Parts: sequence; C-alpha cells; structure tokens
Amino acid sequence: MDMQSNIAEDNALTQPDPCCFVLFGATGDLAQRLVIPALYNLAASGLLPEPFALVGVARRDVSTEELRTRYYMGLREFATQTIHDHIARRLFEKLIAVSADVEDEGSFERLRDELQRHEDDWGTKGNRLFYLATPPAAFAPIANELGRLGLTQQKAGAWRRLVVEKPFGVDLGSAQELNAQLLQTLSEHQIYRIDHYLGKETVQNLLVLRFANGMFEPIWNREHIEHVEIRVDEALSVGRRGKFYDATGALRDMVPNHLFQLLSLVTMEPPSRFDAHTVRAAKAAVLSAIETQSPEQALRNSVRGQYTAGQAGEHQVPDYRDAEDVPRDSRTETFVALRLKIDNWRWAGVPFYLRTGKALACKRTEIAIKFRTAPLSMFQTMPVADLADNYLVIGIDPVERISLQFNAKVPGLSISIRGVQMDFCYRDYFRAEPKTGYETLLYDCMRGDNILFQRADSIEAGWRAVEPFLRAWRDAGTDGLMPYAAGGEGPDAAKELLARDGQHWREAG
Ligand SMILES: NC(=O)c1ccc[n+]([C@@H]2O[C@H](COP(=O)([O-])OP(=O)(O)OC[C@H]3O[C@@H](n4cnc5c(N)ncnc54)[C@H](OP(=O)(O)O)[C@@H]3O)[C@@H](O)[C@H]2O)c1
Repeated sequence: MDMQSNIAEDNALTQPDPCCFVLFGATGDLAQRLVIPALYNLAASGLLPEPFALVGVARRDVSTEELRTRYYMGLREFATQTIHDHIARRLFEKLIAVSADVEDEGSFERLRDELQRHEDDWGTKGNRLFYLATPPAAFAPIANELGRLGLTQQKAGAWRRLVVEKPFGVDLGSAQELNAQLLQTLSEHQIYRIDHYLGKETVQNLLVLRFANGMFEPIWNREHIEHVEIRVDEALSVGRRGKFYDATGALRDMVPNHLFQLLSLVTMEPPSRFDAHTVRAAKAAVLSAIETQSPEQALRNSVRGQYTAGQAGEHQVPDYRDAEDVPRDSRTETFVALRLKIDNWRWAGVPFYLRTGKALACKRTEIAIKFRTAPLSMFQTMPVADLADNYLVIGIDPVERISLQFNAKVPGLSISIRGVQMDFCYRDYFRAEPKTGYETLLYDCMRGDNILFQRADSIEAGWRAVEPFLRAWRDAGTDGLMPYAAGGEGPDAAKELLARDGQHWREAG
C-alpha cells in the first residue's frame, strides 16, 4: 500500500461557528507575530469561521486603520506562507480597534457597547472568543471586568470562551488564585489555558505514536525503559526580555508548562477515548504522580545555571547580567536540569531527566527514550557494554522527526556491530506547509474542543511538582547557581546529575 495514501487531509475539517474574536493585547508581539499569522493560515485553508470578525483591544489609543496596517506589516514579516491580498482582506474585513483598560473606568462598558452595536451587522451570532494576549497581571482583572458586565455569560445558544496565555501563575498559590478568579465568572469548559507546545505536530503525534500503534505500548514501561530525557535547549540568549525573564527564570518559564506537557504525553496511561475529559484526566493523573522531593532530594536532583559571556556560533553573547533590564547581581537561573521520578506502577524507579536553558550550543527540543540494553551479548567480539544505546527519539525542534537508534551488523565476513539510526522526518514525508503552531489551537477553541488545552488540575499539579525545588533553592542558604559559558552545554553539574546514575545526556544527531 502507498503509505502516503494514509495522509489525512485538512480538507476533511469544517469551518467553526460564526465568531467574533476579541483580541486583548492587540498591539503586542504575540498578536502580531503569531496570532494574526495563524488566523491568516486558517483563512487560507478555508478554516476560518464564516462570518468572522476581529476586535483588537488595546490600552493605548489605536485606530482601526493603524491596527490593520500593523497586521499587514506583521503578515509580511512573520507569515509562514505567501500572503494573498484577497485572503488578508477577508481576514481584516470586519476588523475594529477598541481601546479598553481595566484602569480606565467605563472603558469595558464601551467595549460591550461596540460589540453589541456591530454583532448584528457582522452576523457572528453572539459567539465570542476572548483571547488574553496581555501580560499575566492583566488576566484576572480583564476576566473580572468581562464577568461583571455579563460578557462571559452564555445565553440564547451563543457561546463565550476565554483563552489565557502563559505563564499561568508563578507558583502553586498564584495559579490556584488565578484559577479561582477565572472560575468566578466562567465555567471550566469555557476556559482555554494555552500552551503553544501542544499546537506542534510532533507533540500531538506523541499520542498517535503511542496509541495508534500496537508495538510501542507493550514496551512503554519500567520493564523496558531505562530512562527518559526531555530537553528544550535554546541557542538564543535572553535578548531584550530581561525584565520578564529575570523575574521568572528558566524553571518557572519552561518546566511546569512546556516540559511537563511533554512529560505527561509520554507517561500518561492510555485514555479510553480521545475526548477532552478523558485525555486531560489521564494527563492530570500522571502529573500528580510526580514524586514530591524532600529539600535534600530537591537540591541533589536539580542543577541551576546562569550563562556568562561566550561564543554561540558566529555571535559573541554578552554575560546574562549585562543584558538589558537584568540586575548586575541577578541570581536568576537561565538553565535548569531536574531528575524526577513518577510514583506509579508503570514508571516506578525510572528516572526522568529534564533540562532547559538559554544561550546553549544549539536549539534542540527533543524527547529521548532510552531502552534497557540487551541482557547479554552472544557476540564474543562485542560485550553488552560496547553495544550502542537503544533510543527512540522524538525531535520537536528544529526538525520535527522520530528516529530509532539500534545496533546493526556492519557488512563483511566478521560480526562487527555498530549503532545506526532510522529516521522519519515530518517535513519530508508529509510535505506540509510550515505553520506557526497556533493554528490547531485557535481552530480548536473556535470549535469548542479543549483537548489540547490545560485543565486547572494539570496546571496546579505542575506547580505542585516544581514547588519543592523552588522552596529548596530559596531555603537552603545557597541557591546553587553555577555559571556556564554561552554557546556551551550548560553547567558541568548537569552531566554529573546523570553520571551519578551511570547515564549521560544523549549526544545530538
Ligand atoms: N511573544 C511571545 O512569543 C509569547 C509566547 C508565548 C506566550 N506569550 C504571552 O503572551 C502574552 C503577551 O505577550 P507579548 O509578548 O505580546 O507582550 P507585549 O509585546 O508586551 O504586548 C502586551 C500587550 O498587552 C497590552 N497590555 C499591557 N498591559 C496591559 C494591561 N494591564 N491590560 C491590558 N492590556 C495590557 C499591551 O498594550 P499596550 O501596548 O497598550 O501597553 C500590548 O498590546 C504574555 O502573557 C506572554 O507571556 C508571548
């Protein structure tokens, strides 16, 4: 059979209900660089609702014309495909800019009136998607204002949904508080907590890889898997995001959200159905099974680093503390590595090594599953210890791919064995158009499918699992921060974290 005949085409999908997309933070980077290009891609695939209206909400005074020009310019700069004028025109046909600020009394009343005034003409049937692309401090105040004016209330068949960007809280307490605030005016099913990692094809493919193939699940457990490595290495330095980053750090910025999303997809139990309730319950269950570490364990099982000046490729990267808006005495980590365990029958005793950091040797996001070695070698020339490691690698960035590493016989008369690699590369196989990663997520929330969005319990379980590290670093009297040169592999202690278990981070390739 021609394998490519299995390819499911997007043209099997249908347009979501008519909808008015209310974009808070309309003048921000996320809106221009990702949200608008993703909406454009949906329009180009015929997957934008019909009719569709876009309401850009900004704090500052911005006219509809200015916003339209800004978005056209954004499309030119950030689009992932060729821009056709007629598609962009359709996308911005029903665009209006509205100024609203929680600090400015009466401004949300104006927003309400504008929506009511236009919606009949637009024909969007009262369906509204409120997208909060604002700084996190504004999430709850905006939701409160919308709730106060009844704008989040679903009535007469019209739906109301709220998309919340990351970061969702800065620790367990603040995440619980934010959840509680949102739930005052919305029901859980109306809230879409976004993690853009879940919009990536390979990440979604993890579910398919595990649960649409009979061959992986029987070996997907402690009997066969020695350890799992999840890494999100970034080559970029902090750049101009010093203010946000220095208050956040690598752990808060990446681990409870992105890395734990990957972790939960790799480790969850098979859901009986592919629906939001069942899948999200399975993910939340495994996140709440992450071992709670004592302060001593947390210090022993974590590495914090901060980059110093160094050469990254062709670029000379200045010291983190010399970056814009970063204090000279900053103790914020730009690298973190953790060793975690999951306390359930499937995973008991299997170490999970997570790492992420900035200004590292190269951009590399991947999950590497290392299988146990053969129990003995019958090949006299090749003892078990010399066999190459067996890995299943799920590459997410920069190349979306799955590869299997195993041992093979080198051609010749004698038995000589070498590690080889079998590769499946998404781009080569499916020849899909590049995307921003936000398309699926926006499409799903306009259709009311929250399977790819995080439920409150998952978010809280994620924070609960990282709290012991945050607390141990704070209370230990030493925060354990180690310098590492930009353009390198991170602090040496990250290697030692695995070396203690007789392991090493997987080499690139
Ligand atoms: N940029 C990314 O790649 C990215 C990726 C993932 C997640 N995010 C998240 O997306 C959100 C927006 O990020 P961004 O990079 O677009 O930030 P940004 O460029 O600083 O833009 C923020 C936007 O929010 C508005 N805003 C600021 N304070 C506000 C307030 N108190 N009330 C209402 N609106 C306010 C700003 O309006 P004014 O211009 O009027 O100040 C601006 O339109 C953040 O939560 C961020 O963590 C961003």
